[in-house]
Amino acid sequence: MILKGPYSAKLDKTGMLPYGAKVERRLTDLLEYFSDKDAVNKMLSGGENPIIYVVYEIGREMEGELNVGCTIIYPGKIGDEYYFTMGHFHVKETTSEVYFGISGEGMILMQDRKGNVFVEEIKPETIVYIPPGLAHRSVNTGKTELVFLAIYPSGSGHDYETVRKKGFAKLIVEKNGKPVIIDNPNYKGN
Ligand SMILES: [Fe+2]
Repeated sequence: MILKGPYSAKLDKTGMLPYGAKVERRLTDLLEYFSDKDAVNKMLSGGENPIIYVVYEIGREMEGELNVGCTIIYPGKIGDEYYFTMGHFHVKETTSEVYFGISGEGMILMQDRKGNVFVEEIKPETIVYIPPGLAHRSVNTGKTELVFLAIYPSGSGHDYETVRKKGFAKLIVEKNGKPVIIDNPNYKGN
């Protein structure tokens, strides 16, 4: 559905309605992003290909407009690593983004081109501002679905390729039942 002119949409922990597009990412879409390849292969060879997250999007086309997206990341881990979104830089480096937490507990990893990492919590009634130039990945560190709204300029574009090739410098893993931020041993740097 293309929403033209003014619109309103209902937003809650089950998603957003109406929406323009729904994107579903399964483990097979994120093969190269999770660090524990043995855990990935074990799940897939056992016939498991879980949905990691879905995004309900309302996109706009004109310069100066805003896109909105409601992301639901399911709870779970691949090895010790929590389920996460693929993560991306914006193609247009001057564009920023705002997240608003709706339900669940999580973290956002942000990283500049030099590999400096910044972390904020995603939680209900809280916004996170992502300044221009930072790649961003959201991680569900809780036991329920993590749901948040993202608002960003329509011309931002998504560069997934840089993250696919280099990874993030940090990983968020579970240790003794709690989320811990550790160095990514496979980070490719610059
Ligand atoms: Fe973004």
